[in-house]
Amino acid sequence: MNKVVLIGFMGSGKSSIAPLLAESLGYRSIEMDEQIIEASGFPNIPAIFSALGEPGFRELEARVARSLRDASSVVISTGGGVIGRASNIADLAHGGGKTVFLHTSFPVLRERIKDIHTRPLFKNQEQALALYEERLPLYSRYADVSVTTDGKTPAQVRDAILTQIRNVSSGENS
Ligand code: S3P
Repeated sequence: MNKVVLIGFMGSGKSSIAPLLAESLGYRSIEMDEQIIEASGFPNIPAIFSALGEPGFRELEARVARSLRDASSVVISTGGGVIGRASNIADLAHGGGKTVFLHTSFPVLRERIKDIHTRPLFKNQEQALALYEERLPLYSRYADVSVTTDGKTPAQVRDAILTQIRNVSSGENS
């Protein structure tokens, strides 16, 4: 195991957990949204959505996922919609990566996402809830391990991930 891929809905803590986990593993932390912004030439995610629409954003996201196929010793923080294409997960987990689903309940996410301006897909709470329910089965399907985050500090989430990925990795070797 030389790659950890964090998946989960907007606000589940992927971006805060990735550097913590990377530090414990001696890996580098990569933020996909930042790489998408860099690849786009636009200043931020809302600008990408307004210029190219969601389809344009998804193309860039897939391109960045492909560019990370052979990355190693990395923890990758993905955007919440990365599970929309199976090929993204295949690319990101390529070479023995482990996918970790950060499972946060909707009420906690809603509380956390105050700054709706940076998240074009969290403008309307009803639509966000529908999207959350639609995506939950996909996160579970693609997860090698799942960690619930409600009521946990970032350090506790990191520790739960470390325990679980060690368990799945030792199961593979035995
Ligand atoms: C998205 C989540 C965002 C970002 C974009 C689309 C989504 O990332 O990639 O706004 O479809 O859920 P975060 O999950 O880091 O907020």
